[in-house]
Amino acid sequence: MAIFDLLKLSFLVSLLSESNSVSSINGGGVAVFPPTCERIECPSYDVIHGGDGFEIRRYNSTMWVSTQPIDDISLVDAGRIAFFQLYDYIQGKNDNHQKMEMTAPVITEVKPSDGPFCASSFVVSFYIPKANQATAPSAEGLHLQKWGVTYVAVRQFSGFVMDDDVGKEVSALYESIAGTVWSDAIDKSHADEAATQYIVAQYNSPFEFKNRVNEIWLTFNWEDGLAI
Ligand SMILES: *[C@@H]1O[C@H](CO)[C@@H](O)[C@H](O)[C@H]1NC(C)=O
Repeated sequence: MAIFDLLKLSFLVSLLSESNSVSSINGGGVAVFPPTCERIECPSYDVIHGGDGFEIRRYNSTMWVSTQPIDDISLVDAGRIAFFQLYDYIQGKNDNHQKMEMTAPVITEVKPSDGPFCASSFVVSFYIPKANQATAPSAEGLHLQKWGVTYVAVRQFSGFVMDDDVGKEVSALYESIAGTVWSDAIDKSHADEAATQYIVAQYNSPFEFKNRVNEIWLTFNWEDGLAI
């Protein structure tokens, strides 16, 4: 009871302080180091370029545990379905009964779906802590993904992720990149219509109401050594 009161209170406070959002601090776009990453492990990255409303990052290598593709019209609903599967995994519901620390971000890869109407296909993933990567167990219904060096164009936004806002944030990211040296590489990497269109990265649990940081990621290929 007391906890629920506390949650309600912090929710109200967060409504009152809505203007104190990440995007208004930064005038829309990028970028703060996600505060969550000062408390829990996040994949490390190098900022290759800080642009107007976007940031280019390089992740050297990352490992993720991922759901099967979830066909849904709502990224938010798909995320809810996935969160508990992934949470069970780090709580030890995996083939080695191995527990892991909570990490951030939770990422959702968005692809077009063959399904009806406006459904998309969502694959939701947790970042595997470095300490567990060498021995990461499998689990029923989940699979592991190992990414090599990955370049990402990033746009940050705050608050709770709403389905209606995601498309706008993706468009805004494309607009801010237009005409830069990154634009062609990003277009080329997203030319295949069956490929991942974009990724939504979320850094906060559903129970945190303040300082929420989310990101749109466009991953792309970039030859190391190309002039930046
Ligand atoms: C990524 O790899 C490069 C080249 O080996 C290295 O210089 C850089 O420090 C690494 N970055 C991170 C975040 O580990």
